[in-house]
Amino acid sequence: MNNLMINTASKSYPIYFTQDFSGLSKAIKGINKDYSSFIVITDSNVGTIYSKQIIKELQVFEKNVLITVFDAGEENKILETISGFYQDMIEFGADRKSLVIALGGGVTGDMAGFTAATFMRGIDFIQIPTSLLSQVDSSVGGKTGIDFNGYKNIIGAFYQPELVYINVFTLSTLPNRELYAGMSEVLKHGFIRDISYYNFLKNSVDKVLNLDFKTLITMIKWSCQIKKDVVDQDEKEQGLRGILNFGHTFGHSIERLKNFELIHGECVSIGMHGAFLLANKLKLITDTTLNDGLDMLRAYHLPLQVRGLNRDDIYNDMFHDKKTIHKRLVFALLDDIGKSHLSTQLISKDIILECIDELITL
Ligand code: NAD
Ligand code: GLY
Repeated sequence: MNNLMINTASKSYPIYFTQDFSGLSKAIKGINKDYSSFIVITDSNVGTIYSKQIIKELQVFEKNVLITVFDAGEENKILETISGFYQDMIEFGADRKSLVIALGGGVTGDMAGFTAATFMRGIDFIQIPTSLLSQVDSSVGGKTGIDFNGYKNIIGAFYQPELVYINVFTLSTLPNRELYAGMSEVLKHGFIRDISYYNFLKNSVDKVLNLDFKTLITMIKWSCQIKKDVVDQDEKEQGLRGILNFGHTFGHSIERLKNFELIHGECVSIGMHGAFLLANKLKLITDTTLNDGLDMLRAYHLPLQVRGLNRDDIYNDMFHDKKTIHKRLVFALLDDIGKSHLSTQLISKDIILECIDELITL
């Protein structure tokens, strides 16, 4: 399969698209560094299924391997879990030439990346994303981090991996709810940047949901290409990259206020509903475009509303979003399907509240 090169200002690195783990050791050799040891960071679900295969692939290096496992779930994407990794790594004897390997979904990748960025002031790491969401989004582009007191990704670092190794067949063990949730970030890429991709996704619902691997591979590569086009131009989110947060301003607040009862991709879907409504109320998109977008979310079994939250709580929480500048909320706004920009104008509280009202249900 073809690879894709990410070329950010700070680092260039390949994404490998594969159908098994047999090319992993060759890929690591390709980094061309003599690693002293390997630290595999994984969660309790993924580790059980895949860590043995990874250990087997690392045997050729004849170096010590530490497998450090945390309890799966966003609620554990916190400093305490990272402290556990630091402790395990110190006891194991990790040094500046150790390689951290993130094996899992976006929670694992974000935490392993942050651990690598901060341990001994920064050691190398690679991403082996195993959820759809992590294969199409979180493993690419170097955002790493954790939640703090429930605030999403509020602590973190931009820190690029040495490579991303995607084995699409790991999706065969992914629970359906997680597959659907991953589709929210996939659809996001079509909504904000590429109408051809949007049309492809519109025509591929059955194939994607039935795990047709040929379709999945095309889709994952296409999403990575879209993300590459953005992060190559704006690695540290000085502008353009903000459009990748389409729906996330609403979504992150919902995720926090629901205390992680809904998973990230579901909150992003509800948040994208909010972002579609906002663009419609600002007369940027027509009712037809709004309804088409929402139909796409429904087709991929994604939620549009959240139960039991209060409009003012969501509104007030949104000001903790990282895009907020001088206390002004900044939104990724659609101009049409496939076209978006970051808001520069002040958007009135009334309009935002009107959108929130349509996202909440009793
Ligand atoms: P996750 O890592 O919690 O994975 C979802 C669930 O699927 C977990 O229970 C996990 O154990 C399980 N799982 C993963 N792969 C599996 C497999 N192959 N087989 C069986 N089970 C598997 O969550 P996620 O949805 O992958 O990622 C969400 C996180 O990513 C959020 O914390 C979000 O903030 C972050 N994120 C980061 C970026 C970024 O650019 N860094 C971008 C988008 C999202
Ligand atoms: N998921 C948003 C970004 O990577 O910038």
